[in-house]
Amino acid sequence: MKILHVNAGLFGENSVSTQLTAKLVERLKADYPGAEVVRRDVASTPVSHLDAEILMAASTDEASRSARQVEELAMTETLLEEVFAADILVIGAPMYNFTIPSQLKAWFDRVAQAGRTFRYTETGPEGLLTDKKAYLGSARGGFYSEGEMAALDHQESYLKTMLGFVGISDVTIVRAEGVNISDSQREESIQAASKNIDALAIG
Ligand SMILES: Cc1cc2nc3c(=O)[nH]c(=O)nc-3n(C[C@H](O)[C@H](O)[C@H](O)COP(=O)(O)O)c2cc1C
Repeated sequence: MKILHVNAGLFGENSVSTQLTAKLVERLKADYPGAEVVRRDVASTPVSHLDAEILMAASTDEASRSARQVEELAMTETLLEEVFAADILVIGAPMYNFTIPSQLKAWFDRVAQAGRTFRYTETGPEGLLTDKKAYLGSARGGFYSEGEMAALDHQESYLKTMLGFVGISDVTIVRAEGVNISDSQREESIQAASKNIDALAIG
């Protein structure tokens, strides 16, 4: 069992999403003894956002690639290999301005690749990573899980869309929301999410 543990919280262990994914990984390791965990922190070690030079790296002749293209292409391949090797993805995702942090978007921009993680067919795009599961640790300052605010969620909904697009439809979300309302609400939400992790039916 291989777990890819991706975090995007800016505050290391103090980020709520990182705390949730740490607990998720501990829970998975308890249920899958000997599981191997690979970590990818896109906040502390950001993946460059795409630009033309990076985007054209793969289609540029090897001999003509700039040093930066060689380096960035190697990074893209590393990120893809990490995803291919994983049975389970655990992704920590804060909500920033109603969606995911741009660092995490930059990671998706590298791993969502036609012919590698999805393909185009006559009936539309088809995800190729169909043998994987994902667990999301979602942190939000406000409340979006019900009522009118739900329409403003482009964070969890986007993550489900992207993962589904590459073929990962088995997605479990653990959420701590309202964490910026007050200290007591933050604590209550983290505790509730933690209990939800304990109660997950894994496997
Ligand atoms: C740049 C920025 C934008 C944010 N935008 C939102 C937002 O749109 N909605 C919301 O509920 N909380 C928002 N927050 C609050 C975060 O979702 C909240 O602090 C969360 O705990 C951050 O994740 P982390 O604790 O894993 O770092 C924002 C925080 C930052 C720093």
